[in-house]
Amino acid sequence: MNIPFNKPFLTGKETDYIREAVESGKISGDGIFTRKCHQFFEARYGFKKALLTTSCTDALEMAAILCDIRPGDEVIAPSYTFVSTVNAFVLRGAKIVFADSERITPNIDVASIEQLITPHTKAIVPVHYAGLACEMDTILDVAKRHDLFVVEDAAQSIDSFYKGRPLGSLGTFGTFSFHETKNIISGEGGMLSINDEAFVARAEIIREKGTNRSAFFRGEVNKYGWMDIGSSFLPSDIIAAFLYAQLENLDSIQSRLKQIWNRYHELLEPLETQGLLELPVIPPNATNNAHIFYLVCKSLEQRTRLIGYLKERGILAPFHYLPLHNSPYYHNRHDGRALPNAERFSDCLVRMPMYYEMSVNDIEYIAGELNNFFLK
Ligand SMILES: Cc1ncc(COP(=O)(O)O)c(C=O)c1O
Repeated sequence: MNIPFNKPFLTGKETDYIREAVESGKISGDGIFTRKCHQFFEARYGFKKALLTTSCTDALEMAAILCDIRPGDEVIAPSYTFVSTVNAFVLRGAKIVFADSERITPNIDVASIEQLITPHTKAIVPVHYAGLACEMDTILDVAKRHDLFVVEDAAQSIDSFYKGRPLGSLGTFGTFSFHETKNIISGEGGMLSINDEAFVARAEIIREKGTNRSAFFRGEVNKYGWMDIGSSFLPSDIIAAFLYAQLENLDSIQSRLKQIWNRYHELLEPLETQGLLELPVIPPNATNNAHIFYLVCKSLEQRTRLIGYLKERGILAPFHYLPLHNSPYYHNRHDGRALPNAERFSDCLVRMPMYYEMSVNDIEYIAGELNNFFLK
């Protein structure tokens, strides 16, 4: 057996659409396929505006500019996340005030947010870990009372919902990733969702190197120039062509991943019932988009042994984030608060292989080896 952690799934149409994009004669940004992708997201999820970017990292950098983050501003974000969630704000001069995770999920502990707010706080950046929604009502309520931006890091959250509302549509902005490890992919790729009309025009300018080129191409102005700060955040239409082939198959991809996730859960629930490990908890107001199937071990030592045990049996099961408040770059800048839940997930969480083409046999083999490990 040799089971990788992830394997990009191709629907079969990607290269046809790439050829179509190439033959259309326009392969820079905002071509036919980019428009199709934007329309897909706006129609399906009700985003006021969807803008493809070259990564979720880029979408986060755009969001930080749109929030007008300046040196001295503070941004509240979980420590248990990917670097890009906060690096985007640090690039604009922000200080990151790290929050702990909840006890039972890696998501931000919403009860801890209000005490972290100071007169300098400008934004809250919740991360929906594994595509499972943070408790957004509390976050939105705190943000409203303190007049803060909410940027949802929805990198892992495509087609996932909170109280029936799509993730990425609840905050001022949402940021998505289509990196090859995600449910819907384009190699590298991302998207900014904008839920307040007031930011759309500026977002288009920031995405086009600080120019009003988008308005020019729509015929709204007769020349374009330098209007604001910005960068080259838009992807080539070749990337969008790949992505569109995936989006057309979103329902079947999601349904297969959910089958895999549910099968893992069925097979491993007895180990959880016996108190030998913890399985993911789906919060009551959240749906599951089956992006990650993880286990939580009892200790770092046990997890290290488990990863080695699985590796020897041909199963690649990686851990995930290192807590950013302890990172080489930030630990001297962090205010010293202990964030024990973030550290526990960092030490004890391990992700199981998860990809469209996994067979029932693969899942049963992995579950069998987990049983051997935990019951021995
Ligand atoms: C929570 C989170 N935010 C942001 C990113 C960055 O995404 P990208 O690789 O598309 O820039 C990742 C990457 O996996 C992530 O897990």
